[in-house]
Amino acid sequence: MRIGMLTGGGDCPGLNAVIRAVVRKGAGEYGHTLVGYRHGWRGVMTGESIELAQSSVRGLLPRGGTILGTSRTNPYRTNDGPRQVLDTLSRDRIDALIAIGGEDTLGVAHRLDGDGVRVVGVPKTIDNDLSGTDFTFGFHTAVQIATDAIDRLHTTAESHDRVMVVEVMGRHAGWIATYSGMAGGADVILIPEEPFDIDEICESLVHRHQRGASFSIVVAAEGATPKEGTMELQTGEIDDFGHVRLGGIGQRLADEIEARTGYEARMTALGHVLRGGSPTAYDRVIATRFGIEAIDAVHQGDFGTMVALRGTDVVRIPIEQGVAQLKTVDGKLFETAAVFFG
Ligand code: F6P
Repeated sequence: MRIGMLTGGGDCPGLNAVIRAVVRKGAGEYGHTLVGYRHGWRGVMTGESIELAQSSVRGLLPRGGTILGTSRTNPYRTNDGPRQVLDTLSRDRIDALIAIGGEDTLGVAHRLDGDGVRVVGVPKTIDNDLSGTDFTFGFHTAVQIATDAIDRLHTTAESHDRVMVVEVMGRHAGWIATYSGMAGGADVILIPEEPFDIDEICESLVHRHQRGASFSIVVAAEGATPKEGTMELQTGEIDDFGHVRLGGIGQRLADEIEARTGYEARMTALGHVLRGGSPTAYDRVIATRFGIEAIDAVHQGDFGTMVALRGTDVVRIPIEQGVAQLKTVDGKLFETAAVFFG
């Protein structure tokens, strides 16, 4: 078989480990030909590809980013996009496609499946917000990087008696904020799922400082939002999938906290640092298992599926289940985190 593969959406540590696994088993064991499309769906539309020989995946396991490149291009947002995709696949004699991405990339894969393309999806996102899988690779790495940063911010916060606001990624779901906040011992965690009241946050910080604390750590997901009418936010550009570019809540919070409490406040936005560099051992293993399951699914003709982690098992589910809804932070987990607030 000739099998196409692409990585779409924001990059994520572990993408290269998936590519390596697919090629190693797909070419090495099954004898298929692997064609890598460049820059997500854009490369499929324009026909920009590279052949993925076994030699091309050597040394990829620990490498961050994606050797295929990525983009947020949505073929269904351009007039002729789906037709261009079908033309490329037919011209390149592609029998099946492995799409590695988050809700947007897999949403396109699902629509193409409906248009007759034989696809298998691999879920990826540092945000961990895909339904159908307990975890996505990249999340563990992002949480570890954020936790290391929070640990470091503790000592400087303590030295200066400051409130440190740490902004982490998490557009619609606050998984990274919740996990890293718990692991780093944050005094306040703000997530999109739980709109916050700035008055309550300041009261809790004042209460904490009155009880003897000299500093505080606030972890905020970039998508954290104030309760309606309580604090204004700035808006950003909109991408191809209709998402607004976020960033800025951390600084707004630091300004408000300093103005309302009188405590000196500083903001650190971790942003894309959370997506860069080498995947953790856990993410390398999950990514490798996902890659192997994906190429097995293609080899067995099990199309329209997405690989997923359920408990400790890697399974296949219908791709539409994976993109059906956003997986938001579990209320019970957040309640546990909240025990340590203030
Ligand atoms: O891929 C998910 C994500 O990392 C989000 O957490 C974040 O909001 C977004 O990507 C940032 O996108 P970009 O890399 O396009 O700035």
